[in-house]
Amino acid sequence: MILLKTASDLSRTLASRRASGARIGFVPTMGALHPGHLKLVEHSKKNSDATVVSIFVNPTQFNDANDYAQYPITLEKDIYLLEQAGCDILFLPAIDEIYPRGTALQEPYALGYLETLLEGKYRPGHFQGVCQVVHRLLELVQPSLLFMGQKDYQQCMVVRQLIHLKQLPVDLRIIPTLRETSGLALSSRNLRLSEKDKEAATAIYRSLQMIRNELRPGNLGPLITRATNEIRAAGFEKIDYVSIASAQDLSEVSNWNGHSPLVALVAAFLNGVRLIDNLSLAEAGNPA
Ligand code: PAF
Repeated sequence: MILLKTASDLSRTLASRRASGARIGFVPTMGALHPGHLKLVEHSKKNSDATVVSIFVNPTQFNDANDYAQYPITLEKDIYLLEQAGCDILFLPAIDEIYPRGTALQEPYALGYLETLLEGKYRPGHFQGVCQVVHRLLELVQPSLLFMGQKDYQQCMVVRQLIHLKQLPVDLRIIPTLRETSGLALSSRNLRLSEKDKEAATAIYRSLQMIRNELRPGNLGPLITRATNEIRAAGFEKIDYVSIASAQDLSEVSNWNGHSPLVALVAAFLNGVRLIDNLSLAEAGNPA
């Protein structure tokens, strides 16, 4: 694995790989890697000739300075894991390499209603920051394939919108969420949970499964209330949202017609750690 720290070294190295016909696969990360990230690397390796992983904790996507300050950093372990996973190039830039003209957003991305709901509502500016960094990284890496995890469902939709807005020639592949046997979705933020908290945190997945099992056409309000109560009872001190939404555009669905594909999404705080998860729900006659 080659480790590169500057944008110019990265561009030069990739230009020569591309010139020899290599299809580049790209996995952007903020480090604190777990098997979910390594799954993305595995998919990239299967589908491309050279895999680039970036580790960059992007300051512009944190609306909460505390969250940024506490974001886990496990660089030595990350490098070891990426070597083992067969990553070809690790890009490890400093802030100046990503934002040579400063971190201020030059021009907002036209994300429309997508950034006004769910994560967008509770983390104002978050998706502008995500677009800012992903756009810059995509321009530097110029991958054919981009691998991202379904755990960040709305982020995947935002990045798809970015690709469309900027007409970027990249194919976004969304990879299913990896879970612990308890059902807890793998996340870098789990590093901040005690074993007891991890046990309590499984309430999110259980409530998502409950929604999937109990889903019937008609009013979805009672299901939302039940899931919210279950999560609260497990010890979560704050619930940003429990939502059942259109799988296609994330608009909230309060009365289901029994046919349209849905996704259930949750964001909640456990001992100060904000966890998110989601589950695709069955379409009638077509279990998810
Ligand atoms: O999902 C993440 O880890 C980040 O939002 C990403 C896509 C690497 C951008 O900083």
